[in-house]
Amino acid sequence: MFQFSGTYSIALASLGFLCFIGTQAQTLKQGDYYDEAGQIFTTIFHKYNERINPVKDVYPKAVPVNLELTLVHVLDMDDQKNVLDSIIDLRISWLDPRLFWYAYIIKHITVNISTVWAPDVPILNIVAAPQVLINPRTLVVNATGDIFWYQRLRTQTLCEPSDSMVKLCSFKFGSRQLTTNQQDFGENVTFDVADEMKDSPWKPTVVGIERHTQPAYHQPLIGNYSEVHCLLNVTAIKNISNGASSRYMHVSSLVTFMSIYGIAKFTF
Ligand SMILES: *[C@@H]1O[C@H](CO)[C@@H](O)[C@H](O)[C@H]1NC(C)=O
Ligand SMILES: *[C@@H]1O[C@H](CO)[C@@H](O)[C@H](O)[C@H]1NC(C)=O
Ligand SMILES: *[C@@H]1O[C@H](CO)[C@@H](O)[C@H](O)[C@H]1NC(C)=O
Ligand SMILES: *[C@@H]1O[C@H](CO)[C@@H](O)[C@H](O)[C@H]1NC(C)=O
Ligand SMILES: *[C@@H]1O[C@H](CO)[C@@H](O)[C@H](O)[C@H]1NC(C)=O
Ligand SMILES: *[C@@H]1O[C@H](CO)[C@@H](O)[C@H](O)[C@H]1NC(C)=O
Repeated sequence: MFQFSGTYSIALASLGFLCFIGTQAQTLKQGDYYDEAGQIFTTIFHKYNERINPVKDVYPKAVPVNLELTLVHVLDMDDQKNVLDSIIDLRISWLDPRLFWYAYIIKHITVNISTVWAPDVPILNIVAAPQVLINPRTLVVNATGDIFWYQRLRTQTLCEPSDSMVKLCSFKFGSRQLTTNQQDFGENVTFDVADEMKDSPWKPTVVGIERHTQPAYHQPLIGNYSEVHCLLNVTAIKNISNGASSRYMHVSSLVTFMSIYGIAKFTF
């Protein structure tokens, strides 16, 4: 009776958690594979509570969250609103030592995000809800308990106001829920720009990464929030030899001239 209910719970756990199992060795017997898969899910998720953050030693201790940001494409740069419309790849990873197993055949598993503790990493300077272009329903967990969460988003982010051809833009990440007692940014925070944007009229260049701390302002939370700001310059490349572009340049400098001299109202 005990064994029967044990087997039954393995099947249930597998249905709930297991969407796909990565395996390296196809030559091994199927029985071994199912045994190991069953063992992983019964051992690592036995007593696992996804509402509790993966603190290793003593509370309070922050979970280091690593973040790799790649700017894939600049779709638009709105000069008036100072809004950058772009596509980004976001790879967030952290360690949950509770999700550890001795890997024999299975090197990683994938789990639904709702079944594990996950950090809170919103983009703070967005002006509209991000459009999720790719969001696998699952996260990858490897045998050491390292968890990887990949997303591709289209975001509209606010840049610093500037009249120059170069605008300082940013992607500001940070939680408004989890203080530095619960999560913090880890050592591995990277930001780069994909090389594919050759024909784009905007040229983004990485300026750097800044880390900031903000005091909590929502009651009853006390403590600090951590932020990471990924800064970039976006330069407008206007093709002056092109006839249409040069006329555009002409009109825009006329507008600039008129607005400098306070001629606000006019129509074409
Ligand atoms: C995965 O989690 C979402 C909520 O985050 C839930 O709606 C969905 O049913 C879950 N899928 C599975 C297979 O458990
Ligand atoms: C799991 O991921 C971590 C971090 O990338 C890596 O150091 C480790 O070797 C990986 N382990 C396995 C079993 O793939
Ligand atoms: C940081 O991320 C890079 C790129 O994925 C990886 O090569 C490196 O091993 C990571 N370093 C640490 C300390 O996790
Ligand atoms: C970013 O733009 C500013 C203003 O034009 C310039 O001073 C700075 O050197 C640029 N930084 C990089 C890394 O391109
Ligand atoms: C918040 O940060 C400030 C400045 O870094 C520090 O002095 C203060 O102790 C921090 N508060 C908490 C609760 O961690
Ligand atoms: C500028 O426009 C001209 C004419 O359309 C084109 O031949 C040239 O390749 C363009 N240059 C750049 C840098 O885009």
